[in-house]
Amino acid sequence: MGVEVSVEGLTKSFGSQNIWRDVTLTLPEGEVSALLGPSGTGKSVFLKALIGLLHPEQGSVIVDGTDITKCSSRELYEIRKLFGVLFQDGALFGSMTLFDNTAFPLREHTKKSESEVRKIVMEKLDLVGLADAGEKLPGEISGGMRKRAGLARALVLDPQIILCDEPDSGLDPVRTAYISQLLIDINAQIDATILIVTHNINIARTIPDNIGMLFRKELVMFGPREVLLTSDEPAVKQFLSGDRFGPIGMSEEKDDATAAQEAQLARAGVSGGGTKDDFSEIIPQVQPNPGMPERRAAIRHRQRVHDLLHTLPEGAQKAIRESMAAEDEIKNANLARGAELAKSPQFAGGQGFGGSEAQTEQFPAYRAGGDA
Ligand SMILES: Nc1ncnc2c1ncn2[C@@H]1O[C@H](COP(=O)(O)OP(=O)(O)O)[C@@H](O)[C@H]1O
Ligand SMILES: [Mg+2]
Repeated sequence: MGVEVSVEGLTKSFGSQNIWRDVTLTLPEGEVSALLGPSGTGKSVFLKALIGLLHPEQGSVIVDGTDITKCSSRELYEIRKLFGVLFQDGALFGSMTLFDNTAFPLREHTKKSESEVRKIVMEKLDLVGLADAGEKLPGEISGGMRKRAGLARALVLDPQIILCDEPDSGLDPVRTAYISQLLIDINAQIDATILIVTHNINIARTIPDNIGMLFRKELVMFGPREVLLTSDEPAVKQFLSGDRFGPIGMSEEKDDATAAQEAQLARAGVSGGGTKDDFSEIIPQVQPNPGMPERRAAIRHRQRVHDLLHTLPEGAQKAIRESMAAEDEIKNANLARGAELAKSPQFAGGQGFGGSEAQTEQFPAYRAGGDA
């Protein structure tokens, strides 16, 4: 099962430049969370602070009972084995094949024999649709393939916590959907705690159980996805709709004069370019593929949200009740469909579909092939 990561009062600066301050949030065990925020707000810095690659000057990061901001380097080395990290740029070694890149953590952190290493590496490369690309160098493949190789490498130690820094950047919408589905399927299979850093609104709307947003050097909010998606916070609304008009500016935050001027333009009907979508209408969360077990974390999440429901804003409560009902409907429809499919000869002797008893060996979830 995944491990809870609890961040309390975390503050990070580089020299005199404060990046963010007093960040407090808990990534609940096994749940999928997303961290949004404009470019340069320190999302990648936050991710690196979670694995102790950067050192915050205040606050704590408790992983599996250990405060990694204060522990010894020996302890940190052990704790890091719990993590699988997909860095923003893939961070592959340019002179190593994809196979060797993926094998690296195993050779570094375990005493497995080469044949065991080969078995695990091939299984993970297969999972991300790169089984035939093991002998390629990172420079010979597309950005999307590098990203998937980075994910394969992040998975080889069977991590209990998976951190993904912009898994979608450089990917087209279809490949983004594949990689999102893969993360949900992995979550269903190994119940790992997942944090996705992203700008991608589609991912934010359909993948995570929880969402947070960094803005103006602070965590604006963090909680069940419906809370952020129905928020009236101007920065949140602007970010979701991708509009020019609002508190988020091109570089730093806007001054009052500019904001007033823009409000005037908006009133006069000038477009700020955003989508005008109604994000308070919640899209059902993406479910694991047929053949996958049910997400245990989704069950825990629902119980947790149920308990804190009365503390949430009215709009969020309504959205949560509606999305729970919609999820139930989808789940029941999937169960019915699964029962039908199981009867068909194509799936004879096959696995259950969509039900909680559905057991799975590694279902080949991602077989995009091609040059994603
Ligand atoms: N190692 C570092 N040394 C100094 N400044 C850094 C370092 N890493 C990041 N920064 C600064 O921290 C800020 C946040 O960066 P980053 O976390 O990459 O933003 P985001 O991922 O949200 O786009 C930027 O201003 C960046 O220049
Ligand atoms: Mg970043």
